[in-house]
Amino acid sequence: MASVPVSGVSSATVLLNNGVSMPKVHLGVYQSTNRTKNAVKWALQAGYRAIDCAETYGNEKEVGAAIISYLKANPELSRDEIWFTTKLRVNTSYDVTRSSLKGSIKRTKLGYVDLYLLHTPSGGREKRLECWRALEDALIEGEVRSIGVSNYGIKHLQELLDSKPRVIPAVNQIEVHPFNTHSNLTAFCQKHGIVVQAYSPLVQGRRMDHPTIVELSKKHKVSQAQILLRWGIQKGFVVLPKSTNQERIIANADIWEFEIEETDMERLDGLDEGLVTEWDLLDTE
Ligand SMILES: NC(=O)c1ccc[n+]([C@@H]2O[C@H](COP(=O)([O-])OP(=O)(O)OC[C@H]3O[C@@H](n4cnc5c(N)ncnc54)[C@H](OP(=O)(O)O)[C@@H]3O)[C@@H](O)[C@H]2O)c1
Repeated sequence: MASVPVSGVSSATVLLNNGVSMPKVHLGVYQSTNRTKNAVKWALQAGYRAIDCAETYGNEKEVGAAIISYLKANPELSRDEIWFTTKLRVNTSYDVTRSSLKGSIKRTKLGYVDLYLLHTPSGGREKRLECWRALEDALIEGEVRSIGVSNYGIKHLQELLDSKPRVIPAVNQIEVHPFNTHSNLTAFCQKHGIVVQAYSPLVQGRRMDHPTIVELSKKHKVSQAQILLRWGIQKGFVVLPKSTNQERIIANADIWEFEIEETDMERLDGLDEGLVTEWDLLDTE
């Protein structure tokens, strides 16, 4: 075990449907550009034990290098204590999926990927199912510890379940925050044992000054960002806040010492306006 101080963020995990424990807070690195290496280093120093990346973000190499350099500087930590997620660029074919994953592993030099996701439901039914078979084989062959999907709506999940897959997705990574709760989809995932990873959990900063968020942040003497993240944790989601600012990285992980009351959780749920910050692919054909 690591001898570095184990804070809430280091020890908060969720059990996936394949028996693997995954951290509840991941640093997101979308658009972290040339600040990626420092962001990952600061996150690991702050106790984060998971990074959410994707081939399309263009910074897998930097994330891998930052993790490896942190492990070298902290030999009491081992590779298997740090979670690395990445995602397939597009659903084209079985072979491209297998080679893309191998490319990600090679670029990061991490030896394996902890969670590999189909980034989108693009490509139509046949491609989705073909690429899923590639992920299943990669899992069986040990290149990944867990597999899942992202931006999948109920119809995509149902289609996959109906195809009698060898492996049920461990995760569906979707945009979720109080301003877009996707309550039907998250309930569907939870019913089927699929963990919801909430991306853009800070609404990309667009609703920080909403009166209810400000009021609750004053009530709990925490930041508005911490209210948004705590809401996600109390809903049973895994949250993926992105920041390249050291102070914000530290603060975003510090969400374990307060609890939002049930009535306030309901008020936050009531803020749902279907706000999409990034893209909405849940109805993709
Ligand atoms: N699967 C997908 O299709 C998909 C799509 C989108 C995102 N994601 C994943 O989810 C992660 C997070 O989503 P996101 O990057 O879209 O947005 P987000 O985490 O909701 O918001 C990030 C923005 O909030 C700012 N911020 C961070 N902490 C803050 C704080 N404490 N107070 C005020 N502002 C703060 C950041 O700026 P600073 O950096 O300057 O702090 C940045 O501008 C991504 O990095 C990616 O890993 C996945």
